[in-house]
Amino acid sequence: MSITTGDFRSKITTSTLLEKKRRQETITCLTAYDYPSARLVDEAGIDMVLVGDSLGMVMLGYENTLPVTMQEMLHHTRAVRRGVKHAFLIADMPFASYHVSQREALRNAARFIKDAGAEAVKIEGGEKRARLVERMVNAEIPVVGHIGLTPQSLHAMGGYKVQGKTLNAIEQLMHDALALERSGACCVVLEGIPREVAAMITHELEIPTIGIGAGPECDGQVLVFHDLLGLTFAPPAKFVRRYADLGSVIGNAVLAFKEDVRSGGYPSDTESYHLPKETLSSLQAIAERKRAVQL
Ligand code: KIV
Repeated sequence: MSITTGDFRSKITTSTLLEKKRRQETITCLTAYDYPSARLVDEAGIDMVLVGDSLGMVMLGYENTLPVTMQEMLHHTRAVRRGVKHAFLIADMPFASYHVSQREALRNAARFIKDAGAEAVKIEGGEKRARLVERMVNAEIPVVGHIGLTPQSLHAMGGYKVQGKTLNAIEQLMHDALALERSGACCVVLEGIPREVAAMITHELEIPTIGIGAGPECDGQVLVFHDLLGLTFAPPAKFVRRYADLGSVIGNAVLAFKEDVRSGGYPSDTESYHLPKETLSSLQAIAERKRAVQL
């Protein structure tokens, strides 16, 4: 039985994602951080919506994802929840929310599901997170893995660098992916790794791989919504395809508003509210009488 939303599109679940992999149907995923972007992405029929901790840079102006807090992630996840009906909704667990102890990690993961309405959490790291993933899955919390270039390991990696370029690194990535699958992860994000390595991992795994900077052979692709629309300020990474330049569109609209206000062109009479005719006549009569008394 498939559960349908009000608009008769079927709700995407972990089973849908597995089924899509089996049928070799490509999975689409985009980030969203607020209600309008969530609605636009969901209504366009995107399969998975990720409230990524990239919101730290994109929405909050941080230099990297490390300062992002649980409160910030929960706040944005709740807003996105209100806009998503059909897609599978994933929330990123921020740095240090799952690193200190498994108990704290489980409690934090549960908050995303219980308080914010996410359907899965995403955590970075492979083999070393296997036990944690298993515990989350046992607690009925679907988990999305994330390996390769993991932005929360920025300092440990010595910068944002493509991963998996040596034979040892490829072997480790394969171990990481298989460990996540064995632990019960429902899919794995592959970020910033060579296309050939992503293709090998995708072939080995039964769960879907979702690539970002990992070539076209992954089972699905994810991009940051604001990258796709030209709404970020830093130069885009090699793998980003800009489908629109909304930064310029918005900039020009704001300039035009400024000019109109300064020149008196905004608001016009038709953009103003008016008094009912009778009230206006009474008001004019009062003004007339006042003038007559003053004379
Ligand atoms: O935070 C994020 O947006 C992500 C994706 C880029 C995978 O983790």
